[in-house]
Amino acid sequence: MRIVLLGSPGAGKGTQCKRLARQYGLAHLSSGDILRQERAQGTELGRKAQKFMDSGALVSDDLIIAMMKKAIDQAPKAGYVLDGFPRTSNQAIELNKVLTAADVPIDAVINLTVDDAIITDRMSGRRTCPACGAVYHIRNLKPKKDGVCDHDGTVLVQRPDDDLEVVKKRLATYQEQTTPLIGYYQRQGILHEIDANGGADVVDQVIRQVLDGLLVGRRSVARAQR
Ligand code: AP5
Repeated sequence: MRIVLLGSPGAGKGTQCKRLARQYGLAHLSSGDILRQERAQGTELGRKAQKFMDSGALVSDDLIIAMMKKAIDQAPKAGYVLDGFPRTSNQAIELNKVLTAADVPIDAVINLTVDDAIITDRMSGRRTCPACGAVYHIRNLKPKKDGVCDHDGTVLVQRPDDDLEVVKKRLATYQEQTTPLIGYYQRQGILHEIDANGGADVVDQVIRQVLDGLLVGRRSVARAQR
């Protein structure tokens, strides 16, 4: 299964993608996580991406497309869930070309919609583990011990781009450059809009209903073709 999760910064894409990856045995391919790893390792890509990420702007399409093609090539046969990519019309068109040529189209695009006030609260309260990338929230998704990762005991940090001014810029960038993808995927008939204002478990359940419905439909088509 090949899935794309769309949604504004802080909508919960990373949180839901991690769950979907576990539940359906998919690879979680997050452009933001890959860029943060590149930065932590001090690679050329990481250095090039730094100033864009810290200011809330997007990294250039050519760098991102090359990076994500590589990640997709290495993904397991079971499939993947894309988090934060594509994010511009160019990226979506390039992705479509590559997948159409390989005859492995995207099965579903899930668009998480969340009210602006909730978004700001989610981003200001987010804490992440710099070692394993686990994501928490100071009220909504607390670690077992305050300020410490459940998985490896590392002290949790706040992402530099969760600063309020940068958040405003990221939301504006999203409106301008990413929302056109909603219409793009709607026209392809693979878009599923999901109200993601509720808690993470509720959102998870609704996404699974959509994906399980697709799997059931696919099995009946396969049976009918036998
Ligand atoms: P990226 O890392 O992709 O950031 P983003 O899209 O802005 O998304 P976030 O990671 O901020 O939010 P999320 O939706 O994953 O929310 P999360 O699950 O963490 O990109 C960072 C930067 O990299 C970009 O600004 C850009 O510069 C660059 N970049 C990346 N991809 C690019 C691309 N394709 N092209 C160009 N540049 C690119 O949740 C947020 C918080 O809310 C957490 O604390 C979580 O615990 C909590 N939470 C989640 N769900 C719920 C819920 N249902 N209820 C309550 N709390 C919740």
